[in-house]
Amino acid sequence: MSQIINFSYLIAAVLFIVGLKNLSSPKTAPRGNMLGAIGMLIAVVVTLLDKGVVSYGWIFIAVIVGSGIGAYMAKTVQMTNMPQMVAIFNGFGGGASLLVAGAAYLEMSQVFNQGGEVPGLQWDIALILSALIGAVTLTGSVVAFGKLQGIVDEQAVAIPKLFIKSLGIALGICALLVIADPFDMGLFFLLVIVGSLVLGVLLVMPIGGADMPVVIALLNSYSGLAAAATGFVLHNNGLIIGGSLVGASGLILTNIMCKAMNRSLANVLFGGAIVSDTDKAAIPGKEFYEGKVKQADPEEVAMILENAQSVVFVPGYGLAVAQAQHANQELGKLLQERNIQVRHAIHPVAGRMPGHMNVLLAEAEVPYEQMVEMDAINPDFSRTDVVIILGANDVVNPAARDDPKSPIYGMPILDVDQAKTVFIVKRSLSPGFAGIPNQLFINENSLMVFGDAKDVLQKMIQAIKEL
Ligand code: TAP
Repeated sequence: MSQIINFSYLIAAVLFIVGLKNLSSPKTAPRGNMLGAIGMLIAVVVTLLDKGVVSYGWIFIAVIVGSGIGAYMAKTVQMTNMPQMVAIFNGFGGGASLLVAGAAYLEMSQVFNQGGEVPGLQWDIALILSALIGAVTLTGSVVAFGKLQGIVDEQAVAIPKLFIKSLGIALGICALLVIADPFDMGLFFLLVIVGSLVLGVLLVMPIGGADMPVVIALLNSYSGLAAAATGFVLHNNGLIIGGSLVGASGLILTNIMCKAMNRSLANVLFGGAIVSDTDKAAIPGKEFYEGKVKQADPEEVAMILENAQSVVFVPGYGLAVAQAQHANQELGKLLQERNIQVRHAIHPVAGRMPGHMNVLLAEAEVPYEQMVEMDAINPDFSRTDVVIILGANDVVNPAARDDPKSPIYGMPILDVDQAKTVFIVKRSLSPGFAGIPNQLFINENSLMVFGDAKDVLQKMIQAIKEL
C-alpha cells in the first residue's frame, strides 16, 4: 500500500511541475491550473486511503465546509480584490501548518509522558519550523489582507528599529529552542508560537499597501515552506514535494517583482515607504503641470486612430479599477478590422498583483499574441504611431529612466514616450502608487484624455463607428 501511495504522490508531483510550467503563459495557464488541480485531487485521495486515518467523519465535514467557502469566494471575488483573497488563502495555509504542528506536538508529548518512543531531532526541527513559519505566515497574511481590504491603515507604518526588534524575537525563539527539551517544553512551545505570531505582524505592518503584492508572494513562499516542514512532521512525501514547489516558486516570483521595481527585498521589507518623508518634501507640487498639459477628447483620439498603422495599448491599475478590459478589447478589435496593428504592452508590475494585466485582458478575450512583454515591445515604440495609456502611471514615467534623483529611478519602464503620439487616459493629474509627478504628461507628443477609462474607451468606440 505504501508503494502505491508514494507512486501516486510521484504522479501528483509530476502534474504539479508540468502544471507550473504551463502557468508561465496565459495561453496554457488554464491547462496548467487544471493539471495542478488533478495532481492535488490525487494527493488528497491517496492520503485519505492511508491507514493512519482513524475517522472519516470530521474530514468529510471539513472537506464540505472548506470546498463550499472556497467555491463561493472564487465565484464572487472581484478582480480588483484578488490580491487580498490570495493573501488570506496564504494565511489559511500557514494556519493549517501551525494547527497540524500543534496537534503533532500534543500527540507526541502524550507518548513521551507515557514513556513511549519519540522521534529524533530531525522531527523536532521539522515540528518547530512548521509551527514557526506557519504562525508568521498566518498573522503576516492577515495583516496583508487587512491592508489591502482597507481594514488596517494602508500606509507604511514606521516601527522604530524594526529590524532589530524582529531580529531580537527571532533570536529569542532560537534560544528557546536550544535550551528546551522538545517534549518537556509545553510553555516553551507556546512561547515559540506567540513569538512567531508577533513576528508575522511586525514584519508586515511597516510595509505600505502597494508593496503588498511582493509581500504576498513572499508569504505564499512561506506557506509552502511551512507545508513542506509539516510534510516532514507527518512523514508525507506529497506534502514535502508540494510545499517545496510552492516555496521555491513563491521566492522566484518575489525576486521577479523586486527586479521589476528595481528594489531589493530588504528595501521592500525594511525600507518603509517607497518615498521617504525627506523625498516627499522634494516632490514638486501642482506647479509641475501648470500650463504645460495638452488635452484631447475621445473624438479627436478616434480621428488620429483612423490614420494610424500601429497602436499600442498600455494597461495599468486604473484599467482594473474602471473594469475597462472589455471596452479595451472591443476598441482593439475595431481597429484590427481597419487593418491597424494592435498590441498591448505588459509591464511586469503594472497593476497591483503579478500578472494582473494578463489576467484582466485574458478575461476579456484579448488574443494572447497581442499581449507583449516589456522587453519585447520597448524597441518597437519608436516605430509606433499611437500609444494609448489606460490608467497606468509609474510604469510609463520617464523619470525612472532619466532622472537619477527620482525615487523610482532605475525601475524598468515602458518607453512609450518614444512613440509618435501618446494619449494618457486617466481621471486627473493625480500621481500613481509612487506618489510622484509624471514628465510624460507634459511631453511635446503627449495628450491627456481625462475621464474614467471605461467611459473614455466607450466614447472612442462610438466615435470610430461614426467616422
Ligand atoms: P499606478 O502608477 O498606481 O497608476 C494608476 C493610475 O490609474 C493612477 O494615476 C490613477 O490616476 C489612474 N486611475 C485610477 N482609477 C482610474 C479609472 N477609473 N480610470 C482611469 N484611470 C484611473 O499604476 P501602474 O502604472 O499600473 O503601476 C503600478 C504601481 O504599483 C507601480 O508603482 C508598481 O511598482 C506598484 N506595484 C505593483 C506591483 C505588482 S505585482 N503589480 C507590486 C508592488 C508594487 P487618476 O486618479 O488620475 O485617475
